[in-house]
Amino acid sequence: KIIYLKDYQAPHYTLEHTELHFELLGDYTEVSAELRFKRALTAPKEAVLTLLGADLELLSVAWSGQLLSANDWQWQDEKWQFAGAGEGGVLSTKVRIYPDQNLALEGLYRSHGLYCTQCEAEGFRKITLYPDRPDVLSTFRTTIVADKASCPVLLSNGNCVATGDSENGRHWATWEDPHPKPSYLFALVAGDLAVLRDSFTTVSGREVALEIYTAEVDQDKCDHAMRSLQAAMRWDEERYGCEYDLDRYMIVAVSHFNMGAMENKGLNVFNTSCVLAHPATTTDAGFQRVEAVVAHEYFHNWSGNRVTCRDWFQLCLKEGFTVFRDQQFSADQLSAVVQRLEDVAFLQTHQFAEDAGPLAHAVRPESFVEINNFYTLTIYEKGAEIARMLHTFLGADGFRRGSDHYFKTYDGQAAIVEDFLNSMAVANGLDAGAFVSQWLRWYRQPGTPVVSVNSVWQKDIQRLTLTLTQTQSSKSSSTPESLPIPVRLGFIGKEGELSTSLNGVTANEHLLVLEQAEQSWQFDDVSQVPVLSLFRDFSAPVRVKAEFGDADLAQLIRLDSNSFNRWSASYALATREILALAEQYRSGDLRAHQPQESALAAAIAEVWSELAASDPALAAKMLQLPSLAYLSDQVACYDPEALQRARESVLLQVIAPLQSALGTVLAKQEMLKPYVYSAQAIAARSVEAVALDGLARLQSGAAAAIAQHWLKEAPHMSAEQAALTTLVHHQLPGADDALQAFYARWKHEPLVLDQWFATQASAPQAETRERVEALLAHSDFDATVPNRVRAVIGQFANNNPVAFHDAEGRGYGLIAKQLLAIDARNPQLASRLAGAFGIWQKLDESRQAHILRELDGLLSGDLSSDTRETLSRIRG
Ligand code: ARG
Ligand code: ZN
Repeated sequence: KIIYLKDYQAPHYTLEHTELHFELLGDYTEVSAELRFKRALTAPKEAVLTLLGADLELLSVAWSGQLLSANDWQWQDEKWQFAGAGEGGVLSTKVRIYPDQNLALEGLYRSHGLYCTQCEAEGFRKITLYPDRPDVLSTFRTTIVADKASCPVLLSNGNCVATGDSENGRHWATWEDPHPKPSYLFALVAGDLAVLRDSFTTVSGREVALEIYTAEVDQDKCDHAMRSLQAAMRWDEERYGCEYDLDRYMIVAVSHFNMGAMENKGLNVFNTSCVLAHPATTTDAGFQRVEAVVAHEYFHNWSGNRVTCRDWFQLCLKEGFTVFRDQQFSADQLSAVVQRLEDVAFLQTHQFAEDAGPLAHAVRPESFVEINNFYTLTIYEKGAEIARMLHTFLGADGFRRGSDHYFKTYDGQAAIVEDFLNSMAVANGLDAGAFVSQWLRWYRQPGTPVVSVNSVWQKDIQRLTLTLTQTQSSKSSSTPESLPIPVRLGFIGKEGELSTSLNGVTANEHLLVLEQAEQSWQFDDVSQVPVLSLFRDFSAPVRVKAEFGDADLAQLIRLDSNSFNRWSASYALATREILALAEQYRSGDLRAHQPQESALAAAIAEVWSELAASDPALAAKMLQLPSLAYLSDQVACYDPEALQRARESVLLQVIAPLQSALGTVLAKQEMLKPYVYSAQAIAARSVEAVALDGLARLQSGAAAAIAQHWLKEAPHMSAEQAALTTLVHHQLPGADDALQAFYARWKHEPLVLDQWFATQASAPQAETRERVEALLAHSDFDATVPNRVRAVIGQFANNNPVAFHDAEGRGYGLIAKQLLAIDARNPQLASRLAGAFGIWQKLDESRQAHILRELDGLLSGDLSSDTRETLSRIRG
């Protein structure tokens, strides 16, 4: 069943208050609800009270004290309708649910003794009969009753207003949330948890209690999340004027969780992987993820909770904006450049591919079957890029005026994308009608725009004429319209950056906005023919078509003042060389066996040693050549073997001249120093990890010895993980023993064990498929834990192209079989994994046939609506 944005209708009844009572009883749970409804002013004469309910055992229903019977209402699919609600009244219901049997991890579920909820987007209807839609907001009062011994901790949103003991060893707690909220932000947690407490004093002097709840054994892994939370709270006050609004802020770590984390009002529920961090068990990447996710969920308190979404088509309104906010925050905590290039590489690798494949959709889609399938890279990451373009276009101050206006105007309301754009325009004195309709195109048109670049330099008058042309993907259903595209650019001459004039303004950098299909600009005082440094810091999420020669790109790598663009030039050059070589392999061109000169290798050789000392993070990034996933998006026909071989060959050419530089880097032994979380320390470790990987390609014996040394002396997981990955992925001597020792040392730590599984499942060799079969049979493999499933099956399908795209189709067969089993328990998890097949149209005919056979097999059987939607969209 397809739901359309154009069919949106306001609810006939508003909800003034919600009163919930949970009896958590071992085998089942009884939920009683009292809902006070009022007919909406806008409701038609024949108003109907419509609630939603799924998988509920309905025990009783009463309307303003009168018991109702099944004849009084209609209940079809998930929709429960009652025509007798008149001007309004109180609906009282009682239902029974089974949290222990809930393996979908949506609604209320219990795993390893811990009760918790996940309601976004439509999980609340699995808890009780309710107007489960984001535009119905109410205050909540929730009472939880449970066994005191097994569930000493009872939590819900807001403030705890009363607690007490009852008979039979049970106890209860009542929570009140004064801020009206939609049901997707409801949360309940009950179990045996330890807590780390701290506090935060807001800008206006309110003291907020901060609490992080985890299993007792994980209490020593909460400091980083706590510090991140405090930093995020301060940052949001300073950068956005957003202050926290309750007396308490709680985070709970949960081991069985479908996503990263959830911003429930005052009670965030987190995947353990996004909250726990300790130097002994967590890598640098893990620490950074915790910081970013803690901030992301906190920022939702304003962009999501205080101002929420009218309907799920507006999901990007809270997610895109909040991702942009968390990216800004992370840039302020560590290195802004590294943050930006990681975000951009991620977007270009995964979101571009999504937007070019069968799962492409608009940032604000017009229709969907299963909303859970739309928590996508397009909504999150491309949505964030749109917010960033507005920030670039309006300037930091202008953007802040817009966000102030937005938060103030829509506080307590459920908004739409137009409201956000309207605030940006109004607060900056712009023509709102024109602004909204122009920027809305970014939200409505799927596909990545292409910008073509043409420049002509006239020596005699020292003028450069730049012409930019934009074309939209033909995927957009209606006729695509031109988008507003901010272009930050500079000019790089033979000795470095040039200053130029545009409309009388002389500067090293200019901001243009391409609005028409084609536009030209004239720059004066251009004293030599420059190389254009375009889309600095990736000022717009577009593909750029420009005729750069190898020497031009090399010039940018050497001389651009914009570090991001130095990196992106190296990425572009690497991509060009790898694709050319792969093409030669494919066509059987013999010259391919004598690798040609690499302009990339020459440019990197020239700058790398100096860069490794002055900017080690950037030096590290320059040696991480584009992944196969990125490259596959750049080609029309994807041949994983040829690409892999070409990539290895170019990498070797780049690394070979650096042998002694790598030695210098590794001699510093930064990896063996005690753990410090800082941009500088992370950069030093990252360049050493990359150097070790490089050395493994040149001198495997020396690399193995260093890896063993790190494993033995490692003061933290960043060193241990880098060493293990190098040994395993390069199949160095001692790899198997290292894996065994690592397992023995860490088998009691689930998150480290996930890494152990993931390292093996992502080893880029064909034999990995057999290894994965063995891992699936390992006693520590548990298919009911999403993190474990992602560590093995997800890594294999999404992060191991060589093994997944086995020419005989055995990789596809393995995934299809697992998918079916997982789907029966956890549709959201399965549907996400199914996305791995989205690449099929780019593969050769034989691989296509293998995938299609699997897809048709799956589609002809029993599937959840989530997975069915994803697979049928992929199938086309
Ligand atoms: N709102 C959460 C976040 O981005 C994620 C919720 C994901 N929900 C889902 N059904 N996939 O912070
Ligand atoms: Zn979010």
